[in-house]
Amino acid sequence: MEQGVEEVPEKYRRITTTEQLAAGLSAIERPPSEKSIPVIDLGGWEESRMAEVVGQVKAACEEWGFFRIVNHGVSLELMERMMRVCKEFIALPVEEKAAYVGRPGLISQGYGSKYTIKEDKVRDWRDYLYLLLQPVSVRDYDFWPKKPASFRETMDEYSAELKALALRLLGVISVGLGQRASLIEDALGVEVYQKMLINFYPRCPQPELTHGFHQHSDIGALTLVMQEDDAPVGLEVRHQDDWVPAHPIKGSFVVNVADQVEILTNGRYKSIEHRVIPNRHKSRLSVAMFCDAAPSTLISPAKELTKGPVYRPVKFNDHEVTFYDYGAKGKSIVQSYIISNDGMMV
Ligand code: OGA
Ligand code: NI
Repeated sequence: MEQGVEEVPEKYRRITTTEQLAAGLSAIERPPSEKSIPVIDLGGWEESRMAEVVGQVKAACEEWGFFRIVNHGVSLELMERMMRVCKEFIALPVEEKAAYVGRPGLISQGYGSKYTIKEDKVRDWRDYLYLLLQPVSVRDYDFWPKKPASFRETMDEYSAELKALALRLLGVISVGLGQRASLIEDALGVEVYQKMLINFYPRCPQPELTHGFHQHSDIGALTLVMQEDDAPVGLEVRHQDDWVPAHPIKGSFVVNVADQVEILTNGRYKSIEHRVIPNRHKSRLSVAMFCDAAPSTLISPAKELTKGPVYRPVKFNDHEVTFYDYGAKGKSIVQSYIISNDGMMV
């Protein structure tokens, strides 16, 4: 994408009128919110602190939909190695990265900076590498960088560790809902689909005019984001009327429940909008790992948690296609599935 430019080109502008510009500037220059996304210490959780952690995760899901975790068992060494190989890939010359550009189509694996195929949509100030990791049968190694040489091995290790961690967290969330630990994992269908999005947000001359990542909620069950810890804050999370910055904490993951959990719990746990604002002075890299349902799974409210159906069932693949087709529409997609408010668990 365009780098080193002095003005944000038209196709990246989410703000086009003077009024929007004034609102955008005041949003960017406002004093940072005093609120802070919960930090949950998982140290010793599986030995002696399970009940406490279940309670903390439950409270965070109810109040925020987001939390950060520390002492989660994934080694800092692996996290740093993963961050390093991603940075090395992003730093390759454009001509080399071009070999990994995704195929035409809506949800292609690979490298790119488009967000939707519809050319009239506003683009994000972001380059990315999108890879399907699990089940292993969906991997397309054509899109896996050959440089740096350790990319593949590091990704394998990271994928396995994060899958295990995500499934344990889904167990904790299920238990917090008063259900069996496998409730959410079972709802994913035949297999967990693990997807990885390496997001690179270059420096931006006019951050108030654009978005690094437009506001959205994630579509699957759970997301774990590793952010560069020596980069400026970029990720912001909607909390009531505020956008609360997710300040990086070394060795932590930012965790959030996503649309399938909102549907499954009949709205008891909401997927929360978040966005990324690029920075004028420094680039930023994040690695998001999504824990999604299998494409053919019908995602629907769990009967254990339903008084009356609130969200209509939707095939996960259809939900995903709508998400990529729509572009920047915040929460309107998941809300379009609401058929009645009668059984809403709020
Ligand atoms: C995402 C996302 C946040 C970030 O990849 O869905 O919200 O900090 N990423 O890059
Ligand atoms: Ni997201």
